[in-house]
Amino acid sequence: MPKKEFKTPISDKSIIIGPDSGYDNIMFAIESSCDETAAAIVKNGREVLSNVVASQIKTHIEFGGVVPEVAAREHLEAINVVIAQAFEQAGLKGEDITAFAATVGPGLVGSLLVGMNAGKALALAYDKPFIGVNHLNAHVCANFLNTDLEPPFAALLISGGHTQIIEVKSYLEQRIIGETIDDAVGEAYDKVARLIGLPYPGGVNLDKLAQTGNPFAYKLPEAKLQNEFDFSFSGLKTASLQLIQKLKKENPTLPSADIAASFQETVSSTLLKKTKKAADNISAKTIVLAGGVAANSEIRKKFFALRDNGYKIYAPEMKYCTDNASMIASSAYFLAGTMNSLDVEVFSRM
Ligand code: KG4
Ligand code: ZN
Repeated sequence: MPKKEFKTPISDKSIIIGPDSGYDNIMFAIESSCDETAAAIVKNGREVLSNVVASQIKTHIEFGGVVPEVAAREHLEAINVVIAQAFEQAGLKGEDITAFAATVGPGLVGSLLVGMNAGKALALAYDKPFIGVNHLNAHVCANFLNTDLEPPFAALLISGGHTQIIEVKSYLEQRIIGETIDDAVGEAYDKVARLIGLPYPGGVNLDKLAQTGNPFAYKLPEAKLQNEFDFSFSGLKTASLQLIQKLKKENPTLPSADIAASFQETVSSTLLKKTKKAADNISAKTIVLAGGVAANSEIRKKFFALRDNGYKIYAPEMKYCTDNASMIASSAYFLAGTMNSLDVEVFSRM
């Protein structure tokens, strides 16, 4: 169970943080786990006072994906500017901050180190607690930004590295109901996008193309698994590859939009079916989407349609679906997946 009592690093004063603290918490957070350098200031886990994101997309387009060493160097170049902008946008100074937070994992180690060390340096400079945050918990907490959502609920976390159905029992208690046994949804999107010949970042480009195609043009397989709430996307990826190879032989031009739409239809209907069943299983009437792939148009459409059946559906605003620091600040406030000391180290995997 995460602690609610934190120590200041220089004066060793005790500070209570979180919803039970009884005063306004102003969290400054940094995110640098992959290809965005981000800083944000959030009041009481919900009210975004500033949100700055420097994307490395332009650099990574050249390489067709994220090269870890290149990403770390870009974070180093951007971090001080992004931090200064976050303070400026909010009109606040270091003294006004309750605690400094940063993502400590999972992610690219070199990239994480840049953000975490900047966060620790700020905490030392202003004698405020440092809170290390788990990136996955933070994606779920993105749903608290500018909303009144409260646990319990079922969450579907779909990002570039993870795919999980989670039972969120309280702000502090989470249980994984099911997860992918191979590729993450975002990874499958990015790989199939590359097979079709779409540029990085694959997921969002495939989404756009799919909107112009026929979702029922091709039947793609859905994995059957022992735990009905687990996922597998490697078979779908292979089937997409075989379909593309076959169609390339038969056609002078690849029917890319129909392939993209059929892939998107298979993925979105699988996610919907399993998540709804898992939610029913734990009697949850509130379902929450989280992670970069929660920005997907078809997935959002299918889940939002459940509102007609009496479910409450939440998904973060687009800018809070993909990596950002506001969700890290929210997670730090609600103390979900936090590690609170200057001794905390980065980690690459769960
Ligand atoms: O959460 P995120 O920003 O980073 C990780 O923590 O992994 O997720 C990035 C993933 C990438 O795989 C990206 O292609 C995917 O989210 N993504 C999308 C869309 N926007 C981002 N996938 C499908 N449709 C989208 N609109
Ligand atoms: Zn992420």
